[in-house]
Amino acid sequence: MGVNGASPLRSTVLGVGAYLPQRVVSNKELAARLDTSDEWITERTGIKQRHIAAEGELTSDLGVHAARRALQNAGIDATEVDLIICATSTPDETFPATATRIQARLGINDAIVFDMQAVCSGFIYALATADNFLKVGQAKTALVIGAETFSRILDWEDRGTCVLFGDGAGAVVLRAMPVNGDGRGILSTHLHADGRFHDSLYVDGGPSSTGTVGHLRMEGKEVFRHAVEKLTSVVEEALAANGMTGADIDWLVPHQANKRIIDGMARKLGLGSNRVVITVDHHANTSAASIPLALAEAVDDGRLKPGQVVLLEAIGGGLAWGASVIRW
Ligand code: UT7
Repeated sequence: MGVNGASPLRSTVLGVGAYLPQRVVSNKELAARLDTSDEWITERTGIKQRHIAAEGELTSDLGVHAARRALQNAGIDATEVDLIICATSTPDETFPATATRIQARLGINDAIVFDMQAVCSGFIYALATADNFLKVGQAKTALVIGAETFSRILDWEDRGTCVLFGDGAGAVVLRAMPVNGDGRGILSTHLHADGRFHDSLYVDGGPSSTGTVGHLRMEGKEVFRHAVEKLTSVVEEALAANGMTGADIDWLVPHQANKRIIDGMARKLGLGSNRVVITVDHHANTSAASIPLALAEAVDDGRLKPGQVVLLEAIGGGLAWGASVIRW
């Protein structure tokens, strides 16, 4: 299910920012207390290290830092923001939305503010939602944040999952602008979900089911299989919607779960590794934060430039998956 065109307005990226907790945990450190090895983790996933939030450091703290940097990068004042969406599966509290805590810390006293729960596809779901608000004129300037502290929902005894994830946050500032000559902005978004696959990736707790927070559970091989199939399909859908092929894409900025999945997608698109932004090696899987973290890194180091075409894609718990094409 995709949307593009139609509106005289386009959601243009004004700025991007990211934040990672200070503490870095290497594969070797994990191998010292778990039956795993640097070799296994590197070979199967591409992960070498992850950042882990400090005690008392919350998802909203990471989100605030990333948001401030995105606003600074955009060169706008926080009070210009009238829509805040925080994509997260690790909210500070069951309610209210973590986005409202971020809002208060940024000094934004009135805006449309809510969290988006689509796990690892959360950022693409939030981006699509913000894009639709902006295109119909219900908001003008959006802050879209992906912020996670997955370290809090991991079973640190389960080597099959705990080595895969990390904490972090990223954010983008979008503004509704008239479609004009340079054609910059979100060109299309494509979202899907199929709840029949719940059991392949879920958290075994929650306020209504157990009254506890629970831990992440994943059938890795099953998710891997779905990822290859569904990401291929949604990427084809996104390219077709824009009359593009892989040759038109300057940068693939994928959700960072597994380097093997990312390499497979790049091969299918005919993209060399010099056109793929990889952060999974130093961030691990930060769920909804992985794409904005990767975008911020590519902008900061000068790889991603205004006017270039960026393809985003992600899949995660739900299962929910999606893609977006942006002229940066
Ligand atoms: O972000 C949401 C989307 N998530 C994903 O896209 C994740 C998709 N799945 C994956 O990335 C991969 O399936 C994993 C990285 C999770 C696992 O890789 P795999 O090649 O599918 O391995 P596996 O789960 O089939 O496990 C292979 C072996 C097993 O041992 P046996 O049964 O063959 O004796 C596991 O017990 O590796 C063992 N194993 C480990 N060994 C050392 C599992 N975890 C570890 C570990 N260290 N950390």
